[in-house]
Amino acid sequence: MDTITAIEGRRSIRKFTNAKIDDNTLSKIIKSGILAPSSKNSQPWRFKIIEGEKKDRLLVTFNEQLKRKEKFLKILGSPWIGTVKNSIQIMERTPVLVFIFEHRSSNQSILKLSSFWQRSTYQSIGAAIENMILTATSLGIGSLWICDVLFLQKECKKYFQTSDDLMAVIAFGYADEEPNSRPRKSYSEIVEYCR
Ligand SMILES: Cc1cc2nc3c(=O)[nH]c(=O)nc-3n(C[C@H](O)[C@H](O)[C@H](O)COP(=O)(O)O)c2cc1C
Repeated sequence: MDTITAIEGRRSIRKFTNAKIDDNTLSKIIKSGILAPSSKNSQPWRFKIIEGEKKDRLLVTFNEQLKRKEKFLKILGSPWIGTVKNSIQIMERTPVLVFIFEHRSSNQSILKLSSFWQRSTYQSIGAAIENMILTATSLGIGSLWICDVLFLQKECKKYFQTSDDLMAVIAFGYADEEPNSRPRKSYSEIVEYCR
């Protein structure tokens, strides 16, 4: 599948079959993330792949924490409580989850604390994620980019025993749905030629 076809055909998938993704295919997807461009070639990402019982156990923790924080989130009038629940349910039904962390090296210079560096880092990680979901599409595998669970940062760090920050979770599996393309803003609304 060529790149444009993968870009046009990709959809966020929220219903997966039980079929597993074999390790060879999964590593192709991950390697495409590693090949992404990154600011100063910093490669500021770490990927943690979780499946089976370990995934189930983590999601039990997520649900417990969600319950604990639900009251508080409701008091705040948080609009995303419903979508968080939904995203956790999707993760429960997904064969494999890839947790993406922002890795910070131990020699933190002032530059690396600057907003310039932070913005560059986030873009680098976004590029890696996009590579992976497009590669998945080209291999016939569905994906969902999930940030709803970012508020469970502390729990994720503890579970994976890392000081790195969680940036996103990507759910991968064989699609059990064919969603329509979601609307996009028009070209003229967002593009300006400054010639
Ligand atoms: C940074 C980011 C975070 C997202 N987080 C979630 C999420 O937590 N839960 C979810 O169901 N979808 C999530 N999505 C998927 C978006 O809802 C989806 O990309 C958007 O609605 C467009 O649909 P499409 O991906 O099918 O084109 C996320 C997408 C991005 C890029």
